[in-house]
Amino acid sequence: MNTPEIWINLAYLVAGVLFIFGLKGLTHPKTARRGNLLGATGMLVAVVATLCHTQVLSYTLIIVGMVIGAGVGAFLARWVQMTAMPQMVALFNGLGGAASALVAGAELLRDSMAPEGSAVQSLTVADLAPKSIAIGVSGLIGALTLTGSFIAFSKLQEIWFKKPFKLKFHYVINLGLTLVVILLGIALAMNPLGGVGNLCFWGIIIAAGALGVLLVAPIGGADMPVVIALLNSYSGLAAAATGFVLQNSVLIISGSLVGASGVILTTIMCKAMNRSLFNVLFGVMAADGEGPSDDIYEGKVKWTSPEEVGILFESAQRVVIVPGYGLAVAQAQHAVRELAQELKRRGAEVEYGIHPVAGRMPGHMNVLLAEADVEYDKLKDLDEINPTFPETDVVLVIGANDVVNPLARTDPQSPIAGMPILDVDKARTVVVIKRSLSPGYAGIANPLFAMDNTLMLKSDGKVAMVDILAAVRDV
Ligand code: TAP
Repeated sequence: MNTPEIWINLAYLVAGVLFIFGLKGLTHPKTARRGNLLGATGMLVAVVATLCHTQVLSYTLIIVGMVIGAGVGAFLARWVQMTAMPQMVALFNGLGGAASALVAGAELLRDSMAPEGSAVQSLTVADLAPKSIAIGVSGLIGALTLTGSFIAFSKLQEIWFKKPFKLKFHYVINLGLTLVVILLGIALAMNPLGGVGNLCFWGIIIAAGALGVLLVAPIGGADMPVVIALLNSYSGLAAAATGFVLQNSVLIISGSLVGASGVILTTIMCKAMNRSLFNVLFGVMAADGEGPSDDIYEGKVKWTSPEEVGILFESAQRVVIVPGYGLAVAQAQHAVRELAQELKRRGAEVEYGIHPVAGRMPGHMNVLLAEADVEYDKLKDLDEINPTFPETDVVLVIGANDVVNPLARTDPQSPIAGMPILDVDKARTVVVIKRSLSPGYAGIANPLFAMDNTLMLKSDGKVAMVDILAAVRDV
């Protein structure tokens, strides 16, 4: 190793340490901003160190790529709605996987085009085996991540494969494609320096690409965020494999961190939805039942008005706000904080009940409420808030539905059976704000709306907050 390379590797080590501390910071909302900054600094160090490499051939090409990439990124960041973030992440994962596969393919091409008698050409098949295996793995995972992520994007954006799609003999075809990939991988390892190796690599890309489509197509839209977390993990593994190909330590470290954190996130999400990863990947729902029909509401729903809710808050000592997907749609987070502040000013204790899969992406509610400067220590998770509901005077459910559906506890045939929920029905009074009685993501009716202690307020989340605040101030 020459002197510049020693410095570059030292910089990579610093970058790796910064990534790890960055991730540590991201484990708590209070330290998340610092964590983000540490991670970004690590990436800057890694990029600058890579640009100092003597093997860089054209800075012009790199700068053109950076300008185009930054332009597209800045445009998307401004243009994409918060509610469309999961499909956005899917696209990023897919492109990350593709980049890893292409870099590995380029390395294979470079080796096979090296002049006779060069160091690489004088290596034996056995010497090159670890590198060729890493190239094959990178091609496999990268291509699978690319096509799988694009199908996930397409499902969430409702373009193609809106409904789960299965071919006849679907899983047999998947098995066949897996075997093809393994055989091509063996052929690549045995011919690492010739045209045959390159052909095998592109064969792996095509078969793995088809596998990515077939693996994700049968999975239902509701499970897509879990699949995206898993594909995120795959994109990290592809990057780590490419790191082995290039012998680039920072790529190995960062790829492994992405791979591991993606798996952890996938596990957390599966647990929060009471689904096993097997059930998600093979499109098996928790139960085959469809849940009750809308008849359960017949004559039982009590509609209320913002003025009536204002009067309710007059005597409330303890209030819990439960946000859901509708809060994100209505962009009601700032109005919610204003109402909570007013209630606190009047002496009520106000906390927020946050379900881990409320909304459409992990941490969705935390991000929205943090944007509105809601104090973190008021955000309580399931285990903390559930025991407090019997002592809660008013629960305000804003645009949440499945995460407060008591059927998860009571009906073993329900599609959401066993999913841990926020037990808002145990509070003294529940006010549910939504625009209709229509179901949430799981597509099932919610008996909470027809319970004796529930009042329904038919309104957009933000409009309701503004109206209730005005009513509270008028009381
Ligand atoms: P949902 O059950 O999807 O219900 C959201 C409710 O918001 C709807 O019933 C809708 O009713 C209401 N709404 C929509 N726009 C509104 C607006 N402008 N103002 C007021 N209300 C509005 O949401 P949830 O309770 O947050 O549950 C999340 C669901 O997504 C769960 O089933 C969960 O398993 C699934 N999921 C989440 C994730 C992650 S990571 N978060 C991952 C996979 C799956 P109206 O149309 O009547 O207004």
